[in-house]
Amino acid sequence: MDRQQISRIAHRHHPVAAPLSDGSVARLLERALPAGDGRLLDLGCGQGAWLLRALSARPGLRAVGVDLDADGLTAARQAAEQLGVVRRLGLHHQDAREFEAKEPFDAVFCIGSTHAFGGLSQTLAAARPLLAPSGVAVVGEGYWQREPDPASLEIFGDGFHDLAGTVARVTADGWIPVYGHTSSAAELDEYEFCWTGSLAEWALDHPADPGSADALRVAAEHREEWLGGYRGVFGFVTLVLRRAAP
Ligand SMILES: C[S@@+](CC[C@H](N)C(=O)[O-])C[C@H]1O[C@@H](n2cnc3c(N)ncnc32)[C@H](O)[C@@H]1O
Repeated sequence: MDRQQISRIAHRHHPVAAPLSDGSVARLLERALPAGDGRLLDLGCGQGAWLLRALSARPGLRAVGVDLDADGLTAARQAAEQLGVVRRLGLHHQDAREFEAKEPFDAVFCIGSTHAFGGLSQTLAAARPLLAPSGVAVVGEGYWQREPDPASLEIFGDGFHDLAGTVARVTADGWIPVYGHTSSAAELDEYEFCWTGSLAEWALDHPADPGSADALRVAAEHREEWLGGYRGVFGFVTLVLRRAAP
């Protein structure tokens, strides 16, 4: 099974592909979306969960999603058709690092996909020229809740900082947080139980599938890495950012 297929199955019972509850997603959108008409961009949109919610809630919005996962984009298009918002959604199957736009966006989202750009600072550097001057960037990124042990560093790499360090980097790059949300312990646990549980459940329901044994193994390994390692160490923060005035 490839990573994208695993990720699609693992996220199927979760509101978005990141450790955020339904209510947290709603609050972040409330703070990030433009008041009237506007254009949104999601870099690494997956199955388009953020954009679909925004388009459903606000008829004046149009949106563009970019992702390398063709099946994820197909799922996003099908969901958009069912929700009656497909005419306001453009989907691009391409590397988010290569996306170019003719017109600026009012909000650029990159939640749980900053690795595509090599980290948070690089993601914000990529978002900057795509944003209208008063636009917002909404970025979701991991951070260390406490000093990472070698096993956590092995899994997540050494690109994260503590919360203060994460926000300091953002402000040093000329961004101002106008809202933020740190995923609670309950949100993080819910996410991990959903991720590992959905994958295991799919494997049990599809015993004849050639990917079944692989899925069960990945779910078990992931669960051990989480419960026996990075639980309470890895955190996740979603920031709504505006650019400092020039
Ligand atoms: C954890 S998912 C997050 C999806 C979505 N932002 C959400 O919150 O529901 C990460 C996504 O980033 C996408 N991705 C990774 N590297 C990418 C790249 N270079 N260009 C575009 N998408 C990429 C993956 O295909 C995957 O759909």
